[in-house]
Amino acid sequence: MLDLVDEKFVIEGGCRLTGSITVNGAKNAALPVMAACILTKGASRIRSIPKLTDVEIMGRILECLGLSVKHLEDGSLEMGTVDTTKVTAPYELVNEMRGSICVLGPLLARRNAAMVALPGGCVIGQRPIDLHLKGLRAMGAEIDLKDGYVVAYATRLRGTEIYLGGAHGSTVLGTCNVLMAATLAEGTTVIEAAAREPEVQNLAEFLVKAGAKISGVGTNRIVIEGVKELKPVDCQIIPDRIEAGTLMVAGAVTNGDVTVENIRPDHLSAVVDKLREVGVNVTLGRDSCRVRGGRMTASVITTLAYPGIPTDLQPQLMSLLSIAEGTSVITEKVFPDRFMHIAELNRMGANIQKEGPSAIVHGVPYLSGAKVMASDLRAAASLVVAGLAARGTTEVRSIFHLDRGYEHLEERLTGIGAKIKREADTKEY
Ligand code: EPZ
Repeated sequence: MLDLVDEKFVIEGGCRLTGSITVNGAKNAALPVMAACILTKGASRIRSIPKLTDVEIMGRILECLGLSVKHLEDGSLEMGTVDTTKVTAPYELVNEMRGSICVLGPLLARRNAAMVALPGGCVIGQRPIDLHLKGLRAMGAEIDLKDGYVVAYATRLRGTEIYLGGAHGSTVLGTCNVLMAATLAEGTTVIEAAAREPEVQNLAEFLVKAGAKISGVGTNRIVIEGVKELKPVDCQIIPDRIEAGTLMVAGAVTNGDVTVENIRPDHLSAVVDKLREVGVNVTLGRDSCRVRGGRMTASVITTLAYPGIPTDLQPQLMSLLSIAEGTSVITEKVFPDRFMHIAELNRMGANIQKEGPSAIVHGVPYLSGAKVMASDLRAAASLVVAGLAARGTTEVRSIFHLDRGYEHLEERLTGIGAKIKREADTKEY
């Protein structure tokens, strides 16, 4: 018999969440900013880095690429290049975390070569990188796919005009890759259909501080004038808007009264608007928001690139709408197959059907605790939210997915009244 030890959350549902909870730095901003340290001479300091598995893995990839990665006592990271000869990001690490593809652009720009394992598909659907490669090729990089690796060379990248829109809109990490590569390219690069996400803006802020010449950040047209070198930087990671949204939903579904601290309200406009529309009482402060539950009614949700409703909150909003009165329709425009959580929510008594890239959510009066399995990070978050709202006990298995994007979530939710325990999960075969 083989025993595999994993962890699970055991959640006693039905506890009303009340009190204040603080949002951490954004994972999806931290990862590209860490990769950008390949570009700078000397050691940079990155503040408000969240303590997450994905950040840990990115640190290990960067160590493989010749960077020193030091965790400082105040929670920031100090990173700088010590060896510029390394250009290989190995499959074993890249496969753990697809965000690591954003080392490709900086490696090409600073070291003229890169060998980065091709990230595979994943449960939220296909994760192609054709747009990343198209952008870098347009700048003069020679790129081949060999033995599961992207093998790329460029003696000096050249600025050019690049259209980065794809079948599902702009690409966040594709924009990050081209943006980083362009900072050290010869001449001017124009990225059309650029991603506008706050995480891209945070990266651009780092690069500009380092001496890059960038305009149009936050719009669909970013213009980068190449410079010869970039200097080290002291920079701050923005608060995680997806964690903020998850906590707001958790407050709402438990009919709670929760103040979510350390947020950027301007990054959450679409989410706040939607929550108010379904009946959640949201009061915005300068860098916080108070969420009070109430009677929730059905809605139509379409995930879109920023400033639309983020795909990374779709599963959590589905949990919320599963107990809202009436029939909701949720359409995924970013990752049309990101629906693995439906079957698990239905095991808890939800009534949700998948119809192509949409989910039809018939609201039920309540969810019931059950044993459920997390398939990915945000699916895990949606099941935790559902477990908090449900009657009875929910066990969410494969909680390592959740740890990729939420730091000690069970402890922080316990602090505002949730009953959650992390336990070993021994599976017997
Ligand atoms: C980032 O992934 C995030 N990851 C994802 O968060 C997030 O869901 C996604 O952006 C969308 O907001 C990180 O920042 C580390 P995309 P990314 O390229 O950049 C298609 C989470 O849970 N596409 O913007 O990889 C793609 O298939 C994670 O925290 C191409 O067709 O996503 C998708 O349909 C999951 N060709 C759409 O574009 C390409 O070359 C948007 O993907 C690239 C993408």
